[in-house]
Amino acid sequence: MHTEIAAIKKNDFSFYDIQKIRNDFPILKTLVHDKPLVYLDNAATTQKPQYVIDKMNYYYENYNSNVHRGVHALSQKATEAFEGARIIIKNFINALGKNEIIFTRGTTESINLVASTYGRANIKEGDEIIISTMEHHSNIVPWQMLCTEKNAKLRVIPINDNGEIIFEEFEKMINEKTKFVSIVYASNTLGTINPVKEIINLAHNYNIPVLLDAAQAINHLKIDVQQLDCDFLAFSGHKLYGPTGIGILYGKVNFLEAMHPYQGGGDMISKVTFEETTYNELPHKFEAGTPDIAGAIGLGAAIEYIEKIGLENIAHHENLLLDYATKAVSDLQGLKIIGTAKDKIGVLSFHFENVHPHDVGTFLDFEGVAIRTGHHCTQPLMRRFNIPATSRASFGMYNTIEEVDVLVHGLKKILEVFG
Ligand code: ALA
Repeated sequence: MHTEIAAIKKNDFSFYDIQKIRNDFPILKTLVHDKPLVYLDNAATTQKPQYVIDKMNYYYENYNSNVHRGVHALSQKATEAFEGARIIIKNFINALGKNEIIFTRGTTESINLVASTYGRANIKEGDEIIISTMEHHSNIVPWQMLCTEKNAKLRVIPINDNGEIIFEEFEKMINEKTKFVSIVYASNTLGTINPVKEIINLAHNYNIPVLLDAAQAINHLKIDVQQLDCDFLAFSGHKLYGPTGIGILYGKVNFLEAMHPYQGGGDMISKVTFEETTYNELPHKFEAGTPDIAGAIGLGAAIEYIEKIGLENIAHHENLLLDYATKAVSDLQGLKIIGTAKDKIGVLSFHFENVHPHDVGTFLDFEGVAIRTGHHCTQPLMRRFNIPATSRASFGMYNTIEEVDVLVHGLKKILEVFG
């Protein structure tokens, strides 16, 4: 074995009680094709600890009820738990107030909300919106739709061959026509961590608001929205060891106050007549209809669980896995890593010269290894690298170095079969 790899394996994992963490995730005992599951698709969605599952089940089994609507005991209890989750989330990202935390269905809906409300009201013909080459479709298409509607222009910051934003190009691109910047904090496909603080500072020099797509960053980097000074931040519960169908839009209160509601319906109103409607106060103005109550409770529980382990410890663990995996695959013949930025989250995308990513994914599946193959909802990024797809292994808090060995062993077998 590579001596560097052997050194990582021997030394660096003692700080972390990985077995205890793994025991908290029931799904990790699953067999796939009679092999122990090796789940390396955490950028697509993370698994859920028993604590989250129990908190959600407890709600359904013991106090299932609607929120903000009833005087009866169950409704009061559900409202308390739902609003309690909002406070956990507010504290987690250090928002100024809980009225800045909007429950949505996920990152995609959060971005669409901003594009449809703030965007529709403020973007005019000839204006420019800046995104980057490495955006997920959910941070491209809503802005593209808005630009088409308004006859505005979408501008794209180029990246270098390592998959890093070329900051000087951003500096050249930003001007008095720029009215919004929407940037991914950490790329789901490349793993790149973008210099978002610098991006925000520069945009603010021109008085331009910035939205951060934090879908992949939220479970890896400590995010303090006040320190970052971002104007909006979007993320999903299911990438944070919480449930699907729930996500967050953080917005600075002055922006949210000025914005029109996204959807009309129950709970977002103050008074309705057939002639006119006045709207509820924040955050309810943006939460029409019965929300995903169990989802919010589950997301709050996921954050409690993460904080017990420590985000820094999780990030350190994932960085070691990434390091180990990067070194282990770099010797494989014909394998090219896509995304070699200096700062990365635990995402390893690669491309084999002679094997299609779908064959890689299918072969590994028979070894019990779950990775994602495809364009990862970043088709323009694939075009930038001139490839149709990548194979992507992405690490979570419960992955082990032995699991990386299983991945690498599988890749070696693939080379024997297809090579
Ligand atoms: N955006 C998710 C991924 O990268 C689904 O896989």
